[in-house]
Amino acid sequence: MAKMTVQDIDVRGKRVLMRVDFNVPLDKETLEITDDSRITAALPTIQHVLGGGGRLILVSHLGRPKGQVKDEMRLTPVAKRLSELLAKEVKIVDPFADGWDAATAASKALAEGDAMLLENIRFDIGEEKGSEELAQRLAALGDVYVNDAFGTAHRAHASTTLVARILQPAVAGFLMEKELKFLGEALDDPKRPFVAIIGGAKVSTKMGVLEALLAKVDRLIIGGGMAYTFYRAKGWEIGKSLVEEDFIDEARRVMEKAGDKLVLPVDTVVADAFSEEANVKTVPSNAIPEKWEGLDIGPETISIIEDIVMAAGTVVWNGPLGVFEMERFAEGTEQVGRFIAESHAISVIGGGDSAAAIKKFGLTDEVTHVSTGGGASLEFLEGKELPGVAALTDR
Ligand code: 3PG
Repeated sequence: MAKMTVQDIDVRGKRVLMRVDFNVPLDKETLEITDDSRITAALPTIQHVLGGGGRLILVSHLGRPKGQVKDEMRLTPVAKRLSELLAKEVKIVDPFADGWDAATAASKALAEGDAMLLENIRFDIGEEKGSEELAQRLAALGDVYVNDAFGTAHRAHASTTLVARILQPAVAGFLMEKELKFLGEALDDPKRPFVAIIGGAKVSTKMGVLEALLAKVDRLIIGGGMAYTFYRAKGWEIGKSLVEEDFIDEARRVMEKAGDKLVLPVDTVVADAFSEEANVKTVPSNAIPEKWEGLDIGPETISIIEDIVMAAGTVVWNGPLGVFEMERFAEGTEQVGRFIAESHAISVIGGGDSAAAIKKFGLTDEVTHVSTGGGASLEFLEGKELPGVAALTDR
């Protein structure tokens, strides 16, 4: 890795300021964590620092409070879960209630091998604005800086980029290193055939990744809600299916450029309402009836994808192929997840919805790597430089 990592520094006795991405999903009613993957993924670095006698100050955001203190976005559930996982208490230090001097004093009072968690850093408007003052305050909490927040590496914020320029060396944690290794190797040195499967609702958010991957992959499979914009570009009727009219021309351009590489669903599961109770049938993709909407790929498409995935050397998957949250429209996403798991291909699952799908179907341990980054993994696949990585100290 071109950047220094946590293994290059001696943390003993040092205050280690570590940016993590604990932006985990919470149950709206109970505020219980519904998926703690992002916390468990950061444990190797946390344990390395604590085991090495470091004094750990963790920094994360949760949600988008936009510079306001919002009780439902407090990191309390995260501190509780982390304390359970580490079998030691991790206290929250709240500079928004008690001031930054108190936070600095708390960091200095930490014993070797102990950790504290700073309250949601986005309670300060300066985080997203990239405030130098906030970066200085954060820097005063540590002696060295570790960034293990791959999921937030596409954001140039005070706690991801600015503080890294002040607190040197600024090094990558194990999770950051692992994410960059798997995503990087898949893109730069893929075992062929290299297959990308791109789904999700909106083609507008995936155009960049489609263009970037086209130059690298052997097959590009498109599914999910975004496929219907491609159907429209072919001049097909799509009933009430999702479409982004403004992207039809771009979809046409991608199709022309992709030629034989592109695989669009040949059949589609359609419903007469967006509901589990709807009437459902499978139709050829070029014959979606009026007033029906496509909500999943059909069995013939699933079988075509099976053949491609089983023969693949590398598979990168980002975005579900249907509305997998509803059982009747989950088949395509589930089956494709199973083929990826059963295949001998190196498989990298982009975070967000596809990571949630892989988890739902119990396949997380069957694939090579599931990214903790949603937007970050997408931007990485687009070939963009991630500011949170760029800011780290070169080797
Ligand atoms: C994510 O969940 O993708 C990251 O935590 C970044 O969150 P954001 O999109 O609110 O910046």
